[in-house]
Amino acid sequence: MITGASSGIGAAAARCFVEEGASVVLMARREERLRLLAGEIEEAGGRAAVVTGDVTDQADVERAVEVALAEFGTLDAAFNNAGQGTLGCRLHETEQAVFDRIMDVNVRGVWNCLRAQIRTMLTQDTGGAIVNTSSTAGLFATGAIAPYVAAKHAVLGLTKTAAAEYGDHGIRVNALVVGATRTDMLATALEAAGRRELDVVARAIQRRLADPVEVARAAAWLCSDQASFVTGGVVPVDGGYSAV
Ligand SMILES: NC(=O)c1ccc[n+]([C@@H]2O[C@H](COP(=O)([O-])OP(=O)(O)OC[C@H]3O[C@@H](n4cnc5c(N)ncnc54)[C@H](O)[C@@H]3O)[C@@H](O)[C@H]2O)c1
Repeated sequence: MITGASSGIGAAAARCFVEEGASVVLMARREERLRLLAGEIEEAGGRAAVVTGDVTDQADVERAVEVALAEFGTLDAAFNNAGQGTLGCRLHETEQAVFDRIMDVNVRGVWNCLRAQIRTMLTQDTGGAIVNTSSTAGLFATGAIAPYVAAKHAVLGLTKTAAAEYGDHGIRVNALVVGATRTDMLATALEAAGRRELDVVARAIQRRLADPVEVARAAAWLCSDQASFVTGGVVPVDGGYSAV
């Protein structure tokens, strides 16, 4: 189950997970885009189901889990990646509605997903693996707006707690600390803030944007049995941003 699968990192993850042999449930709000991606996957011989929905709505998230079970029998892995963020507005100028929406999508969205996915994984002998998308903003004040920085810190808290509570049940939960990545979200955020790509990568060792597939590969690895001894992890995929 991949949320935010209609573009960017989520869409790259869908292709990557399928290459690794997974059948995927694609969830996001834009049905048209999801259908195009599912069509592409099926043409290439993979299996994909589409669930149009909003991660802030528990019922939509539960529907995605139900579709995974109905179509594929089990929910083995989940990539809770849907998110929303922006740059360039200081804390005291940020509207309440922006705070509410950013917290709702980035925190409640992951919360909703974890609750529904873990409930299902607890009923499976095989457990499962979950990856949540945090950000360098989950560790630092990167220049993203304060609610986004706070929300991505919260994602790490949810990740560690879920990993600790369900490790005994064979459920691994990890978070990606994602650095600046070439996606619609980043392009929109840079434009809104009047900033250049170079500004957001200047601090990182590699001083470049990631391609979404570079993040997707890390998610695929964490969701796979190859990462069997990795849980509660805060895993940087950030070109070295968090190392210096
Ligand atoms: N691009 C970056 O530089 C960057 C850096 C760090 C972290 N991230 C994180 O990566 C994740 C993916 O973002 P992206 O860069 O691929 O951006 P994107 O805008 O291309 O993709 C975001 C996806 O989330 C979906 N989405 C947003 N709100 C949703 C909601 N309420 N319900 C369901 N789906 C929703 C969008 O439809 C889209 O599919 C986000 O969590 C983001 O915070 C991105």
